[in-house]
Amino acid sequence: MPFNYLIRDALKSDAEGIISAHQNAVHVSAQESYEQAILDEWSPILSSRVLQMEEKLQNNPEKSIILVVESEGKIAGFGEIVPAQEELRAIYIDPQFSRMGFGRALLQELESRAKKLGLAKLILHASLNAKIFYSQNGFKIDGEGNHKLSSGRLMPCIFMSKTLV
Ligand SMILES: CC(C)(COP(=O)(O)OP(=O)(O)OC[C@H]1O[C@@H](n2cnc3c(N)ncnc32)[C@H](O)[C@@H]1OP(=O)(O)O)[C@@H](O)C(=O)NCCC(=O)NCCS
Repeated sequence: MPFNYLIRDALKSDAEGIISAHQNAVHVSAQESYEQAILDEWSPILSSRVLQMEEKLQNNPEKSIILVVESEGKIAGFGEIVPAQEELRAIYIDPQFSRMGFGRALLQELESRAKKLGLAKLILHASLNAKIFYSQNGFKIDGEGNHKLSSGRLMPCIFMSKTLV
């Protein structure tokens, strides 16, 4: 990969960069796949989210593993697994850094962490726009359905999974 980058565990001080990457990824990269109301509830543009993320990174109630990819001094994206649920919760790459291989690199590191913890597989609710990315990275389609956003609204998604070997 021709770009300098670093993948590391997220720190409380990354909260602002993580929220910015999430908002940009959803409102730009997923924009063609969902109606505006879903995008707005999936990633609200609210400054209070930074504080919530700081609290999540500090207390980590689900004991998730949250990694960031840093490039050019910025948070280019982040990803999360929840080992207790064998779940890949998220990968979001700021569109400024799209198609540079950062998503794949984050996924590989998250899979490596999952394997070290003894997980046999990862399950995922993939957004429609990300189906190709996950397919290209070894996830298989288990079905189609809806993911429930924290607002309660349902967003169409693809259920996917990958056996870790
Ligand atoms: C999906 C996402 C994480 C991909 O991140 P990325 O860093 O751009 O992806 P990579 O550069 O690592 O791509 C790896 C491979 O996946 C495939 N791929 C990635 N994005 C693709 C796209 N938009 N269209 C087609 N194939 C794509 C390609 O095969 C690519 O390899 P290539 O560039 O050599 O052809 C990013 O687009 C994103 O954050 N999307 C919005 C948020 C989201 O929906 N996240 C998933 C929630 S479940």
